[in-house]
Amino acid sequence: MRKLFSVVVAGLLVFVLFACAGFSGAAFAAAKVGISMPTQSLQRWNQDGANMKAMFEAAGYEVDLQYAGENEVPVQLAQIENMINGGSKVLIIAAIDGRALATALEDAKAQGIPIVAYDRLLMDTDAVSYYATFDNFKVGTLQGEFIRDQLKLDTEAGPFNIELFTGDPGDNNINFFFGGAISILQPYIDSGKLVVKSGQATRDQVATLGWSTPRAQERMENLITANGYGPDGTPLHVVYSSNDSLANGITNALVGAGYTAENFPILTGQDCDVTSMKNILAGTQSMSIFKDTRTLAAQVVKMVDAILKGEQPEVNDTTTYDNGSGIIPSFLCDPVFATIDNYRELLIDSGYYTEDQLR
Ligand code: BGC
Repeated sequence: MRKLFSVVVAGLLVFVLFACAGFSGAAFAAAKVGISMPTQSLQRWNQDGANMKAMFEAAGYEVDLQYAGENEVPVQLAQIENMINGGSKVLIIAAIDGRALATALEDAKAQGIPIVAYDRLLMDTDAVSYYATFDNFKVGTLQGEFIRDQLKLDTEAGPFNIELFTGDPGDNNINFFFGGAISILQPYIDSGKLVVKSGQATRDQVATLGWSTPRAQERMENLITANGYGPDGTPLHVVYSSNDSLANGITNALVGAGYTAENFPILTGQDCDVTSMKNILAGTQSMSIFKDTRTLAAQVVKMVDAILKGEQPEVNDTTTYDNGSGIIPSFLCDPVFATIDNYRELLIDSGYYTEDQLR
C-alpha cells in the first residue's frame, strides 16, 4: 500500500514538474507533425518547409517533411498516406492540385487527424479544419494597383498594350491573384485604355501549368511572334504576371526579343525569389510581392499547438474561403509590395536575405 502510495506521489510530482516548466501536452508527447509540400523546384516551398521544420522542432515536435518531387500529384498522395500510417497527429498540406487529394484526406479524417491547408486551399472536402495563408486577393490588388499607378491610367490617354499570365489551374490561389488584379484592371480594359492584343484575357486562357518558368517563357515568345511585340515593333507596355516563377520566363523571352532595362515593359511578380530580386535590381522586372514565409510558418506552429491542446486556434477570416464544403476558418498574413526602392528595408534589414545573396 505504502509502495503504491509513493509511486502515485512520484508520478504526481513528475506531472507537476512538467506542468510548472510549461511543457505543452504536445511537446511532452513529442507529437509528430506531417508536412506535405508540393515541390522543391520552386524557391518558396523550400523556405516554407525549412522554416516550419525548424520552428516545430524548436517547439518540441517531431517533423515528417516531404516534397512531392516535381509537383507530382501521385507522389503527394502517397506521401500523405505514409504520414497517416506513420503516426502523424496533424497534417499540414500545400497541395499541388487542391482537388486531387480526396482519398488521402478522407483517410486522415477517418482516423481523426486534423488537417491544416497551407497557403493553398484544399477544395471540395470537409476533412480540412483550418487554412493558413496570405491575403491572396490583396496580392492581386497590389499587383493591379502597381500597374495602374505606373502607367498613370487615370490621367494618361493610352492606349497601353498588356498581356496577362497566371499560375496553375489546380491552384485555388490563382482565382484570388488573377481575380484581385483584374478587379483593378478590368475597367481600363473595358474602356480601351488597356488593350490585350492577343485577346487572351480569361483565367483559363492565361493559366500556366505547374507555375512553370519554361512554359511561361514559351507562351511569351509565342505572344511576341504573333503580335509583333519588340523594342522596334509593336509596343508592349506591361505584362501582368501572378508570381516570380512566371515572371522569370517572361523576362527571358523579353530579353531574347531585345528588350533592355532602358525600355523594359512593366512586369509584376510575387514571392521575392532571389532570381526575381536580381532582375528587379537589373531593371528586367518591376516589382514583386513579399510574403514573409517566416510569419506564416510561425502562425501555423501556433495553430497546430492549439489544435493538439484541444484549444481554438487564432483565425482572422471566417468569410472568404469557401472550399465547396463550407467556409474554412482562416488566418491570413499580410502581403506587401517590393520594388527597388524598399527591398533593402523589407528583405535585407529583416534578415530574409543577405545583400550577397542578391548580387
Ligand atoms: C503561392 C505563390 C507561389 C505559387 C507557385 C502559389 O500557390 O501562393 O506564392 O508563387 O504558388 O509556387
